Amino acid sequence: MATVRFPDEPGFTGRFAPVRLEGEIRGLEVIQGEVPESLRGTFYRVGADPAWPPVVPNDFYFNADGMVAMFRFENGYVDFRSRYVRTPRFLAERAARRSLFGAYRNPYTDDPSVTGISRGLANTNVYWHAGRLLASKEDSAPIQIDPDTLETVGEWTWAGDLASQTATAHPKIDPRTGELVFFGYAAKGETTPDIAYYEADRDGRIMHEAWFQAPYSSMIHDWAVTEHFVVFPIIPLTSDLERLKAGGPYYVWDGSKDVYLGVVPRRGSDVRWYRGTNRFASHIMNAFDDGRYVHIDTPVGENSAFPWFPDITGAPFDPDKTKGYLSRWTIDTMGETDGFTQRRLTNCSGEFPRTDDRWATRGYRFGVINLTDVPGQTPADGMPGFRWLASIDLATQAMKRRFAGDDSTVQEAIFVPPRPDAPHGDGYVMQLVDRHALARTDLLILDARQVDGQPVATVKIPIRMPGGLHGNWVTAEQLARRAA
Ligand SMILES: [Fe+2]
Repeated sequence: MATVRFPDEPGFTGRFAPVRLEGEIRGLEVIQGEVPESLRGTFYRVGADPAWPPVVPNDFYFNADGMVAMFRFENGYVDFRSRYVRTPRFLAERAARRSLFGAYRNPYTDDPSVTGISRGLANTNVYWHAGRLLASKEDSAPIQIDPDTLETVGEWTWAGDLASQTATAHPKIDPRTGELVFFGYAAKGETTPDIAYYEADRDGRIMHEAWFQAPYSSMIHDWAVTEHFVVFPIIPLTSDLERLKAGGPYYVWDGSKDVYLGVVPRRGSDVRWYRGTNRFASHIMNAFDDGRYVHIDTPVGENSAFPWFPDITGAPFDPDKTKGYLSRWTIDTMGETDGFTQRRLTNCSGEFPRTDDRWATRGYRFGVINLTDVPGQTPADGMPGFRWLASIDLATQAMKRRFAGDDSTVQEAIFVPPRPDAPHGDGYVMQLVDRHALARTDLLILDARQVDGQPVATVKIPIRMPGGLHGNWVTAEQLARRAA
């Protein structure tokens, strides 16, 4: 059966239809405003875009191939390139012209011909450290790609020093030191409760490694890093090897389980677990400490936001319970109690929080977040999804909002400083906006102080970009200091 045909399922049709296009456009059209000539660097982002129809029913986004896109800013021009990451999995399936790997993170559903080949998809984040551009997914080691051509160099295991089988897609770079602070969960294999914590120096050498066991096996998608601590959130999207072997889902939502926050001193080897009632959180906007109290800003909802991971009780997915509200968790690392507090910061639900990364790990004011709901405002088109970008001043909780427009949704925004020494929050916000009725995507360049104002520039991408997860800005100076 040689026909390539994607399933007639919601995850593969309409605005979620695969794009699969690799290509290059030199000099994207600027349809509004002017691209500042002072912007010198590249916005890299990665999305999940299935190269072949799935072999399992109701497959979903997290299980699709990583397609990296880059926007290189040079003298007011923006050059575009998109390319699949050549993971071992991608290459095997490309040769066979079909999917050989089965369900999300379930090797027991794979074609026997691919046994032993990495299941990594490199579809979640693309980041720069120590002169290397790395595309990553949390179930495997990252894949190094060429920052000019996006050609795949190969798997990066920190010169062989990565003992964990996995590495997070959400490493943090300490702006004081240039260190890459990261971890792997399911570090001894799928569904294991083992966590490996690493710090690599500014040259990419692993200088610290410590191993812990979580109270239970769960998704540890993002985490918090401050000047003096790292924090592992254990949120009850739980995994179980027997369920996986039986062909069940990798994760289920277990509303009966408590949340745990594992606090480890930076470069330390001992974990202290703090405990709270059941709730859901995924991405961290930023975190900081004063030596005693650790503050973590993250959207918090009642239930898991992922409809493809079922409730353990069989309860139907309830979108209202998935609304996440940016909140601040505070842990007293010197207190007697093993609890932590939570304070809500907004009344708008949203996700994909980001900050000015020059202030990552430290006290900060500027953040951006994509919103799904704003009280009293309902888009006339009724389209669900991320409909607004908001900036927030964490000191006052003042918010500025920009509606994406009719039939439009927003992808993750990033903050771009105009120069290394610009004040905190002074710069640009870049964001892809999908124009669904036009089947294309715009790249908006916004003044970070006025995200609700007229864009500085709107750059037109004449195709619809596949749904993105995360991305980062890499300066021209960083690109000039690439690893050999
Ligand atoms: Fe993420």
